[in-house]
Amino acid sequence: MVTVNVSATGKPIALARGLPMVVELPGKQLEDATIGDVKSAIAKKYPKFHLDRQKITLKDSKNLLTDDVTLKDAGVVEGGELSVKDLGAQVSWKTVFLVEYAGPMLIHPAIYYFPEIFYGGPVQHSMLQRYVLTFVMLHFAKRELETLFVHRFSHATMPFKNIFKNSAHYHLGSGLALAYSIYSPVYGATSPYIRGTARNNPMYIQAGAAIWLFSEISNLITHIKLRTLRPAGSRKRAIPQGYGFNLVSFPNYFFEFLGWLVIAALTGSYAAWIFLAVSTSQMYVWAVKKHRAYRKEFGSEYPRDRKAMFPFLA
Ligand SMILES: NC(=O)c1ccc[n+]([C@@H]2O[C@H](COP(=O)([O-])OP(=O)(O)OC[C@H]3O[C@@H](n4cnc5c(N)ncnc54)[C@H](OP(=O)(O)O)[C@@H]3O)[C@@H](O)[C@H]2O)c1
Repeated sequence: MVTVNVSATGKPIALARGLPMVVELPGKQLEDATIGDVKSAIAKKYPKFHLDRQKITLKDSKNLLTDDVTLKDAGVVEGGELSVKDLGAQVSWKTVFLVEYAGPMLIHPAIYYFPEIFYGGPVQHSMLQRYVLTFVMLHFAKRELETLFVHRFSHATMPFKNIFKNSAHYHLGSGLALAYSIYSPVYGATSPYIRGTARNNPMYIQAGAAIWLFSEISNLITHIKLRTLRPAGSRKRAIPQGYGFNLVSFPNYFFEFLGWLVIAALTGSYAAWIFLAVSTSQMYVWAVKKHRAYRKEFGSEYPRDRKAMFPFLA
C-alpha cells in the first residue's frame, strides 16, 4: 500500500473543506500508483470535487503533474506530500470548439439572407459574396466535423470561462465583423467597388476558390496526420512527418492562414484583413512556443531545419 498526504494550495477549497487528507492506495506501489489514482481517491471522498477540477502538484511547486505520471516518477516518497488546487468549473475542449464554430455558421446566413435588418434594405448579392458565404460555411462545417471525428485532444477540459473568451474570437471576428462587412451593399452586384472590376471576374474568383480549396483540404490532411500519431485514449505525442511537416512544425496553421488570406485578398475587406492578422499572430505565437517544446522533448531526433509555421522563413 502507498500513503501520501494531500493538502490544499493557498486558500481552502470549498468543495473539499476537510483537506488536508491522507490518501491510501491499497495494493499499489510507488512504481505503479499514479497521480490519476490520487485524484480518484480525493474525488471518492469529495464527490463534487471532480477529477478534471483538480490540479495536483508537488508541495511548494506550481508544475502540474499529469494523471499518467507515477508517484515514483513525480519524485514522491512513501508518506510524501502533494498539493491540490481547484481549477474551477470545467468544460470539455470539444464543447468549446463546437460552440466557437457554431457562431459564424449562424451569423453569416443571418446577415446574408436578412439584409433588410442589417442594412435597412435589400442587397443584390454578387458572385464574390456568394463564394465567401460558401467558403465560411464549408470551413466551419469542416471544423465542426474535425472536432467530432478527427482531433484527439490531450486535455479533456478547460476552465468554463474560456468558452466566452475563445468564442469571442470567432463569433465577433470571423462572424459578426466579417459577415457585416462582406455582405454589405458595398460588395453587392451593383456596387462600383464590384461591378466591372476583378472582384466580379469569375476567373479571378475561381482562381481564389482553387487556392482556398487546396488550403482547406491540406489543413484536413495535416489534422488527419496528427490524429494517426496518437492512439485513441492516449496523450502520446510523436514527431509528425510529410505533407508540409517536413518544412514546418505546424503546416495546419500555415494552411489555415492561407485559406483566410484568400478571403482577405479577394474581398479587400478591412474586417477580413484584421481577422487574418489577429488569427495569424495567435497561431504564430502558439507555433513558436510548441515548436520549442518539440525541440526540448525530442532533442536531436527533431529535424533541425524545420521552421515553426512559415516554410523557409519562421
Ligand atoms: N483561425 C484561427 O484563429 C485559428 C486559430 C487556431 C487554430 N485554428 C484551427 O484549429 C486547428 C486546431 O488548432 P490547434 O491549436 O488545436 O492545433 P494543434 O496544436 O496542431 O493540434 C491539433 C490536434 O493534434 C494534436 N496534436 C498536435 N501535435 C501532436 C503530436 N505531435 N502528436 C500527436 N497529436 C498531436 C492536438 O492535441 P493536443 O494539442 O491536445 O495535444 C490536437 O488534437 C488548427 O490547425 C487550425 O486549422 C484556427
